[in-house]
Amino acid sequence: MKIFHTVNGLRDDLIQDRLQGLKIGFVPTMGNLHDGHLALLHQANQTNDIVVCSIFVNALQFGLNEDWDKYPRTYESDCEKLRAAGCDYLFHPDDVEMYPNGLDTQSRVICPTMTDVLCGASRPGHFEGVTTVVSKLFNIVQPDEAIFGIKDYQQLAVIRRMAEDLCMPIQITSAPIHREADGLAMSSRNRYITEDERPQATVLKESLDWIASQIRSGNRAFSELEAEATVQIERAGFAVDYVTCSNSKTLDLAADDDSEITVLGAMFTESARLIDNVSISEE
Ligand code: PAF
Repeated sequence: MKIFHTVNGLRDDLIQDRLQGLKIGFVPTMGNLHDGHLALLHQANQTNDIVVCSIFVNALQFGLNEDWDKYPRTYESDCEKLRAAGCDYLFHPDDVEMYPNGLDTQSRVICPTMTDVLCGASRPGHFEGVTTVVSKLFNIVQPDEAIFGIKDYQQLAVIRRMAEDLCMPIQITSAPIHREADGLAMSSRNRYITEDERPQATVLKESLDWIASQIRSGNRAFSELEAEATVQIERAGFAVDYVTCSNSKTLDLAADDDSEITVLGAMFTESARLIDNVSISEE
């Protein structure tokens, strides 16, 4: 695996690859790689000749009271995992390489819809930080395909929308949620869950699955289902950020005649904020 810390270094190699007609797949990450990330790499390897992974903990997408400074940075072990997963190029820039003019004056990419609901409601500016850094990474790597995990469903939907709106010639591919044996969605933030909380942490997935089964059997009283799931999560000892039935593409509140619905939820443990989702599609 070749490691690049500069935009120009990475570009020099990618230009040669493109001249040879090689197909380039891209997996952007913030590091602290777990099996979920490695599954994205594996998927990228299936359909591309060259796989690029980036590791950059993007300050622009963290709020003032969020965990940017304590976000786990595990560069050496990440490199080992990437080598074993068959990654060809790692792009690992520092803050100055990514934001040479500083964060405050950085030009931004704004997706005006879909970003102030769900996670965006409690994390103002987060998605602007994501769309800005992902656009920059797309411009740097110019991949044919970019792969994002479904666990961050809102992020995936917003990036799809951004790519469509801005005519980015990149195929945005989704990869299934990777789960622990008991069903908890894998996340770098799971390490913040205390031992006491861990057995109950699956309640988020269980309550979203319960809503999905209700919808599949014809119950479209979305608000009531959301309220009941909220009670289930609170009974397990967690605070609910949101539980919402949304249109899978637009993220608007689900309507009676929607055939593609995604149920999304976020809850707070003592020191972690966990998210999960389940999609329902009617043929
Ligand atoms: O999902 C993530 O890890 C980040 O939001 C991303 C897409 C790498 C942008 O910083």
